[in-house]
Amino acid sequence: MTGATIWLTGLPSAGKTTIAYELADRLRAEGHRVEVLDGDEIRTFLTAGLGFSREDRHTNVQRIGYLADLLSRNGVKTLVPVIAPYADSREAVRKRHMAGGTAYVEVHVATPVEVCSERDVKGLYAKQAAGEISGLTGVDDPYEEPESPDLRIESHNQTVQESAATVHALLTERGLA
Ligand SMILES: Nc1ncnc2c1ncn2[C@@H]1O[C@H](COP(=O)(O)OP(=O)(O)OP(=O)(O)O)[C@@H](O)[C@H]1O
Ligand SMILES: [Mg+2]
Repeated sequence: MTGATIWLTGLPSAGKTTIAYELADRLRAEGHRVEVLDGDEIRTFLTAGLGFSREDRHTNVQRIGYLADLLSRNGVKTLVPVIAPYADSREAVRKRHMAGGTAYVEVHVATPVEVCSERDVKGLYAKQAAGEISGLTGVDDPYEEPESPDLRIESHNQTVQESAATVHALLTERGLA
């Protein structure tokens, strides 16, 4: 089977992880080999020790991109729900995939910050507002919106299942699912 990296970029609480696991279930049920490289999990091991400076965020994304490419070129559907706030970091990951001929799909989970801060799954928006943390992506740290993602998802206007189905449809269209 053809591997592919599907990178879901977007703000905290945008829905990246939720959509990735929904899509993973669906792809597995169809017989695909699937891995999910979730930002939080990866930061506890593969990229442990990295912080949230521009440089560390870039390094985090490059290491995850490297691993995603390795998996994907060996037939795995690699789903990457990771914020990846900087355009040049995302572009470098895309280039790495292109250089090796590995399929790469960038999905912008484009939930507006107002909706994300309502959801506030991890309580980060509240902590930032209370002055307990700083450097929150999209609030007091940059998020460079993708200018031409392969897909833009409006998770505030559809269900998780619909969002996952939209990504799945694109994979089908490209002969990847
Ligand atoms: N259409 C939708 N797609 C995805 N999530 C949705 C949707 N509608 C509502 N939600 C809810 O929004 C929340 C998204 O949280 P999730 O942990 O997936 O965000 P995230 O982008 O992975 O954030 P983080 O960067 O902090 O890991 C979940 O509680 C989910 O149930
Ligand atoms: Mg997440």
